[in-house]
Amino acid sequence: MTLLDYEYLRKLLKERSGLDLSPDKQYLVESRLIPLARRAGLSGLSELVQKMKNGSEALTTDVVEAMTTNETFFFRDKIPFDHLRDTILPQLVPARTNRRALRIWSAASSTGQEPYSIAMCLREFGPALSGWRIEIVATDLSQEVLEKSKAGIYSQFEVQRGLPIQMLVKYFKQTGELWQLNADIRGMVQHRQLNLLHDFSGLGKFDIIFCRNVLIYFDQDTKIRIFERLSKMFEADGTLMLGAAETVVGISDAFRPSPDKRGLYQLNPARAVRSNAAGASPQPLRVVAAR
Ligand SMILES: C[S@@+](CC[C@H](N)C(=O)[O-])C[C@H]1O[C@@H](n2cnc3c(N)ncnc32)[C@H](O)[C@@H]1O
Repeated sequence: MTLLDYEYLRKLLKERSGLDLSPDKQYLVESRLIPLARRAGLSGLSELVQKMKNGSEALTTDVVEAMTTNETFFFRDKIPFDHLRDTILPQLVPARTNRRALRIWSAASSTGQEPYSIAMCLREFGPALSGWRIEIVATDLSQEVLEKSKAGIYSQFEVQRGLPIQMLVKYFKQTGELWQLNADIRGMVQHRQLNLLHDFSGLGKFDIIFCRNVLIYFDQDTKIRIFERLSKMFEADGTLMLGAAETVVGISDAFRPSPDKRGLYQLNPARAVRSNAAGASPQPLRVVAAR
C-alpha cells in the first residue's frame, strides 16, 4: 500500500464512519484489509483502493465494516449495569408510573451483548415493570453485527465473558456448542442500522442512552457534534452512559457528569435555563479541559 492509498482510506473512513486514524496506523489497516482483499480475489491493498475509487460501493461498505472494532461482552464493565439496577431504574420507574413505558437506546450495540444485558437487567427488576411497554432500540453502523445480534446466538467463549452463570441458565438455551437467548429477551430488542454521523432525531426521545466504546474512535469535533445531537434525544430526567474511557468533560457542556456515579451523565440544567432565556436552541460550547 502506498502512502497515497493510506491517505485515501483514512479520509474515506473518517467520512463514512467517523473513524479517526492517525498517520501511523498503516499496520492496523493492513491487518484488517489484506484478508478482505484476498477474499475479494485482489492482489493487495492498492488494487482494493483502485476498485473503491472506481466506485465499488459494496467493497467500500465491506472496508468500512472491516475497520470497525466490534469488541463487546455481556455486562461490560459491570458497574454501569449495577447503576442501572440500583440507581437509575429505582428513580425512573416511580417517575414513569403514569406512562408505564421506558425507552432505552444502545447506540453502538455491536453483536448485541449490551442491549441484551440491558434487557436481562429489566427482566430481573421484577414485577414493578410488568405490563410496561419496554423498548430497547439497538443500532449499529455494521449490518453484519446487527445480523448476529438479531439471532442472539453466542459461543461458549462469548457467554463466559461477563455473563453470570444464573443468567446463562435462566435466559439461554444450549444447542450443541452454542447458546441462544430466549425469544422473550430477544423480543425486547429492536434492531436498526444507523450511522451516528447521520441524523438520528427520528428515533424519538429516550429515558436512557448507552453510547459506549464508540466515541473513542472519533475526533474531538465529531464528538462535540454527536454530544450536541444526543442531548436532543432525552427526556428531561434522562441518563447518558458512556464507556470507561469516554467523557463529556472538556468536550461538551450539554451534559454534566453524575457527581458520584462514574460513566453516568445527565442533561446540563444550566444549558436548559440558558436556552429557555434565549428562546432558541443553545449553541454548542467547546469546553477547555481542566487538568
Ligand atoms: C467497540 S463496539 C462497542 C459495543 C458496545 N457498545 C460495548 O460497549 O460493548 C463499537 C461499535 O460501534 C460501531 N460503530 C462504529 N462507528 C459507528 C458509527 N459511525 N455509527 C454507529 N456505530 C458505529 C461498530 O460497528 C461497533 O459495533
